[in-house]
Amino acid sequence: MNDNQERLRELLQQHQTLVVVGANWGDEGKGKVIDKVLGFYDVAARFSGGANAGHTIFTRSGKKLISHLIPCGLAQNKICVLARGEFFNLELFLKELEESKNILGGVLSPIYIDQQAALWTPYHRLFESYIEIMRGSAKIGTTNKGIGPLEGIYKLRLAPVVGQLFEKDLLLVSLQSLYNVLKPCFDYTAFSGQITEIIPTPQEVLESLVNQAVNIKDFVTDTSFLLYEQLKNGKRILFEGAQATGLDAWWGTYPYVSSGNSVAAGAALGTGLAMENFQATILVAKILPTRVGAGPFPSEMWERQKAMDFARSHAELFADKTAAADFLAEKLHRINSGSASNAEMSQYFQVLGDERGATTGRGRSIGFLDIPWLLYAIRINNPKFIALTRFDMLSKIKSIPVVVSYKLDGEILPDGKLPPSWALSKVETIKDDWLCFEHDISGISDFNNLPQSAQDFIIRLEKRLGVPILLIGTGPGREAIIVRTVDK
Ligand code: IMP
Repeated sequence: MNDNQERLRELLQQHQTLVVVGANWGDEGKGKVIDKVLGFYDVAARFSGGANAGHTIFTRSGKKLISHLIPCGLAQNKICVLARGEFFNLELFLKELEESKNILGGVLSPIYIDQQAALWTPYHRLFESYIEIMRGSAKIGTTNKGIGPLEGIYKLRLAPVVGQLFEKDLLLVSLQSLYNVLKPCFDYTAFSGQITEIIPTPQEVLESLVNQAVNIKDFVTDTSFLLYEQLKNGKRILFEGAQATGLDAWWGTYPYVSSGNSVAAGAALGTGLAMENFQATILVAKILPTRVGAGPFPSEMWERQKAMDFARSHAELFADKTAAADFLAEKLHRINSGSASNAEMSQYFQVLGDERGATTGRGRSIGFLDIPWLLYAIRINNPKFIALTRFDMLSKIKSIPVVVSYKLDGEILPDGKLPPSWALSKVETIKDDWLCFEHDISGISDFNNLPQSAQDFIIRLEKRLGVPILLIGTGPGREAIIVRTVDK
């Protein structure tokens, strides 16, 4: 075990449970952080979100695995749990299972799915299309995985649930109720020609689901009890967050959010374990936060749609790093000479960081480091540690604006306080220029090997956040991560 791993082991051994959640609007690199700490845990559990997530992880032999529904823990042979708070899509699960088998080879570790998790049907997808059509220009720009309907229909007490896959009569009753309630919406969109596909009958949906369900019969159980027993038997559990604080249905930028409980408290609700079982949280923050879809993003560099379209209209810059080299060199020169516009900065960091969604392929809009937002995320999640990802993005940059406070109606907002979501796009972001580092820090895994100005950046940020920055990502590779010595 190298120094980094030994340091982590010492810190984490006292936490039988650990929650990992995102600070921004997703895509913080939670997969990499989870991968780093997984070795110290026996069980990996997902408690929120669904197939809208996309975590990139690497297997021990260096193969790339993108997990959507199954916890990242699968790549390290951990017992995997899809708890009640995770929305379940049977078809996508089976596809992911097959892909995982191909990549990981042989027998997979045990996987458990909660018997009462909301079960996806084609009606959820159609209803999501209907809602987005009806919202018109106020649409959210969802991942189109039926997530909002899965949560909403569950709360309306109309949801088919996973265990009903083995109770055909019950499932048919659920499907029929759901169909009856949604049919007028489907008829409306069919009538107006906005949705043209043929809507399957409840009986057809039932047959399709039940036929596929034979493949998961042994996976379905009461995962709350299972996790409770695992804890009682001394097993160590890692709770893998999906989406992030800004996308939490309650504490994110409502209504431009996902529909699950993606903050740390969601781990208790989503697993059915009592609150005192959760011992520590790691909040994963991206050095330059990103956002896809619609909704407020106070530190955003450029216009959302332009940033999102940029990845598509300049696909060559993303597909081939050598094609990108000239572009990056020119933009870097302009950034360091102080002549780059915010749009150019956004383009530079989008290309440099390959900022495209793992689930949707859409370009991600990029923002400056946003301390007031992070202080809010810290208040909501109360993390023991912070993992700061993609710090290497600031390599070779002389200095960068950092948002240090929000001002609204002439008043600086107190730390940890946000206005309501609808006013968030009106806050004035007060920025300071922070010195960066003209060296390339990619791949550095020892804090002492960072240039002094990079160390100073981290220490300055840590003081302002008031939470130890334990992990620092310095590149995409598994070893490109620093583990700092911090107080326990
Ligand atoms: P939904 O989760 O598909 O309902 O989408 C709601 C919003 O959350 C949209 O803006 C999505 O782009 C965003 N979103 C959902 N999951 C992720 C994610 O894993 N990363 C980034 N954005 C996400």
